[in-house]
Amino acid sequence: MSAITIFGATGDLMHQKLMPALANLHKVGKLPEKAHIFCVGRRDWNTDEFIAHLRKHVAEAALVAEVENIITYVKVDLDNRDDYHALDRKISTVSNADDRIFYLALPPKLFPEVARELAQANLVKKGDDNQRVVFEKPFGEDFESAKEINRLLWRYFDESQIYRIDHYLGKEMIQNIITLRFANRVFESDWHKDSIEKITIYAKEKSGIKDRGGYYDATGALRDMVQSHLLQMLALTTMEAPESFSAKAIRKEKVSLLKKVSVDSEHVIMGQYRGYHDEKKVADDSKTETLVKMDCIIDDSRWRGVPITILTGKNMDEKRSEIIIDFKAPSQAASLWPQAKMQSNCLIIKIAPEEGMRFTMNIKESGLSDEITTKTMDYNHGSDVFGNKPEAYEKLFLEIIDKNPLMFTRWDEIETAWRLIDSIRDHDTGKRVIYEPGCTLQQCLKGV
Ligand code: BG6
Repeated sequence: MSAITIFGATGDLMHQKLMPALANLHKVGKLPEKAHIFCVGRRDWNTDEFIAHLRKHVAEAALVAEVENIITYVKVDLDNRDDYHALDRKISTVSNADDRIFYLALPPKLFPEVARELAQANLVKKGDDNQRVVFEKPFGEDFESAKEINRLLWRYFDESQIYRIDHYLGKEMIQNIITLRFANRVFESDWHKDSIEKITIYAKEKSGIKDRGGYYDATGALRDMVQSHLLQMLALTTMEAPESFSAKAIRKEKVSLLKKVSVDSEHVIMGQYRGYHDEKKVADDSKTETLVKMDCIIDDSRWRGVPITILTGKNMDEKRSEIIIDFKAPSQAASLWPQAKMQSNCLIIKIAPEEGMRFTMNIKESGLSDEITTKTMDYNHGSDVFGNKPEAYEKLFLEIIDKNPLMFTRWDEIETAWRLIDSIRDHDTGKRVIYEPGCTLQQCLKGV
């Protein structure tokens, strides 16, 4: 028997991601047998009222129907220990589960308090790997706050019981970066400064901050996206080969890479979309960045001198995340075809909205012509899957259920990422490029 308890069950993340992921897993029989989902919130509701709330807020109502029989709503005031004891009794009566997952879809400042209460009420026993606690991102607000949160968590749980979420790690093509690099000789042997001209990693979003003004205005793009998702993409793209395909070995290489990254702080560009101040719960004079573009430097023998650009922004022309690897010109081409205007190879790892990869290569035109032309090989990852493609959160839930930490971030990854972000924020001059909603990157940066 398994009990999956979601704190913050009336929030946006539950409606958009967690609930659909659990329902889809249930539909395909991937939740543990007789799993029960306990949904924790502050509102004084019974389970029927909570289900009605879900039906209203989850886009696909059929998904709610899929799991409504295995859901129990529990009201918990986060600072009331009696409520945690009552939750424990509920879990014991309904599911009598030893296998317990607690998912904290809560702001990071609440992590220590809830962790303490989970431990004090004996809902989670330190050292028992059957009892896991999952923490949504962002893990802290800066290095100091993250360190303090982590210190307290280690007091109550072993590291093996802690799962720090970065949902990008559950995305198909991000899981594929290591495979692409090390299962293909052609990329493995050319993945370095002698063959690669530049790397661009970006995550553009079409939507603005929606109704998350309270959270976003205190956070900004650097902490919301770069500290987690983009630095993880960078680490996987540029780290050395791990000793084995294990969580331990991969995390070790990610950390050692992240420790080598520095940022050209004079050239960090931060922007804010026009109209941001009119969003709900945003301060009138807010300088919070909704766009960041920065150049990273990795000073090691593999990458020295290769420009690496990271970019993310809200309210841009489209929702698109990609990793672009631009290769150098081939060494013999200029002497063989002095007249030809040839493009260099380019590999694009497509993360969203399409998943797959695109590779451009040069080829002689077909027929009597000797001209050289550039052709694209386009692989669409989703086309191999029959039926619905699993979403990142489905994969992440499965990994938590299977007790596999590979797709979660270890403390030293978070620590190293925060140190880098703090150093960028320390150099922030407060200058913001104001861009029009819906603009392309080139338009956003016009005049910079
Ligand atoms: C979240 C950020 O972590 O990732 C959001 O808090 C952002 O601001 C989201 O919109 C993007 O995720 P995805 O999967 O839609 O690219």
